[in-house]
Amino acid sequence: MNSSNDVSLDDCNEANWWRQAAVYQIYPRSFADANGDGLGDIKGITSRVPYLKSLSIDAVWLSPFYPSSLADGGYDVDDYRNVDPKLGTLADFDEMATALHAAGIKLVVDIVPNHSSDRHEWFKEALASPKGSAARERYIFRDGLGENGDLPPSDWDSKFGGPAWERITEPDGTPGQWYLHIFAKEQPDFNWDNPEVRDDFLKTLRFWSDRGVDGFRIDVAHALMKDLSEPLPSKTELPVEGTGVDGLVDGSHPFWDRDEVHEIYADWRKVFNEYTPPRAAVAEAWVHADRRARYASPQGLGQAFNFDLLQADFDAAQFRTIITKNLAEAAASGASSTWVFSNHDVIRHATRYGLPAGGGRHGQEWLLDGGSPAAVDAELGLRRARAASLLMFALPGSAYLYQGEELGLQEVGDIVDSERQDPAFFRNPGIEVGRDGCRVPLPWTAEGSAFGFGAGRAHLPQPEWFAGYAVDAQNNVPGSTLELYREALLYRRHLLTEEQLTWVRADDAVLHFVRPNGWQSVTNFGSGLVELPVGIVLISSGPLDGGKLPANTTAWIV
Ligand code: BGC
Repeated sequence: MNSSNDVSLDDCNEANWWRQAAVYQIYPRSFADANGDGLGDIKGITSRVPYLKSLSIDAVWLSPFYPSSLADGGYDVDDYRNVDPKLGTLADFDEMATALHAAGIKLVVDIVPNHSSDRHEWFKEALASPKGSAARERYIFRDGLGENGDLPPSDWDSKFGGPAWERITEPDGTPGQWYLHIFAKEQPDFNWDNPEVRDDFLKTLRFWSDRGVDGFRIDVAHALMKDLSEPLPSKTELPVEGTGVDGLVDGSHPFWDRDEVHEIYADWRKVFNEYTPPRAAVAEAWVHADRRARYASPQGLGQAFNFDLLQADFDAAQFRTIITKNLAEAAASGASSTWVFSNHDVIRHATRYGLPAGGGRHGQEWLLDGGSPAAVDAELGLRRARAASLLMFALPGSAYLYQGEELGLQEVGDIVDSERQDPAFFRNPGIEVGRDGCRVPLPWTAEGSAFGFGAGRAHLPQPEWFAGYAVDAQNNVPGSTLELYREALLYRRHLLTEEQLTWVRADDAVLHFVRPNGWQSVTNFGSGLVELPVGIVLISSGPLDGGKLPANTTAWIV
């Protein structure tokens, strides 16, 4: 089968830099800490630009670095047009942007439009203003049910557990209205029917674009528009949400993936296109695969994440179906495909692939069981993660990587409760352990304070075994995961070709495809040795065995 997209390499000019970019996600508070306060910062990122350059990535995507009380790791934004003073200043940001650009690396920032934090000026104003005021209209306030309004307007649950409505105290001290928060209570949802909200985000997009930001990652892009016509349905009447094939296809949910959301992105696209090159954007939209193209269209955000590989087992049939479907979808929408195995919201893939079969493929059961490293076959997990990543780098489209995966870092599953930070843990006791384990600050050196992350104690505890994964333990070490990533990404840069692949072999044991310029990738998902095609083996994710490809290994042949 031949999945093709009409875009040729000639079209991959400056305006299309994102189409097949390798994008490295930085979670700023856990990347590098220049001032030794235990929290990663902007100067820390700037100090590591040579490292980023050594990875041959095309762009970095920064998770939120805005002022925030960190009720949700920075996805609770107090001020969209500033830098958290704990992380630096706007001048530090400009210095970082300049350093990245000088190293040939584009800069993508996270935009969080569904909700602000409860410390945003607008929300404070809303609390201080009377019911029905313009200030309250920027958010979603409703009277409570029951005689005294002391029942929430509906029985909806927040994504992090617990009710999706929070009651406020009115300025006169009496119990008052309720506001909607699909996430934590510190994250009040904006009212996107309000033109002031719309205008303010256009201002934010221009603010960062004017500072040289090249693109945006749009947080929960599918949540902004809501149908809150009364009476609000009970949660038992809500359409069942889901993603991928389980998701809704008709936009009928009152707050997920409503059709009206695309009017917003059409306005954003006009702003992006005011710039040369146009600013790029990628939607985080957990929607039915058939609806993803709406977010990814050239009249909208341009690209959308697909989390299908991230949710799959290490399994040839699943990978093949996902790859084929997503390439076809991307071709139909005019976007390029996106691929991702790890990010700040999921268990690292080197750990997921080492969990016992049947133990819950996304690893939640393992976490609930205490997340012991002893329960993980870390060696197998890493071998598969390396094979999967090498396969991903050969696919048409953009590859998104998450800080630390280039070190083969494992998830820290056994953080003690008193150190946990994720609201998902606090709002859902005994049901969710949260996402802190993939957000533990990076080990840069095997020795020294906080493994070289910074002079202070890291804000999440780093386990002893981090030493073995440190950058300096892998630097220039042939066969290390760091060197594998560096080499693969460098080759990738030179090998990139039209956004097409042709399957040579795709069965339960082997996925073998070729790109239009003869670049071949072969992955062995089975247990025996696999014969490689004739050609030069450029790189492999693990050692070959007598010239053959062992289990859980990928090789590139030209
Ligand atoms: C982000 C999460 C965040 C949530 C709410 C997401 O999907 O990736 O980290 O908790 O949006 O902003």
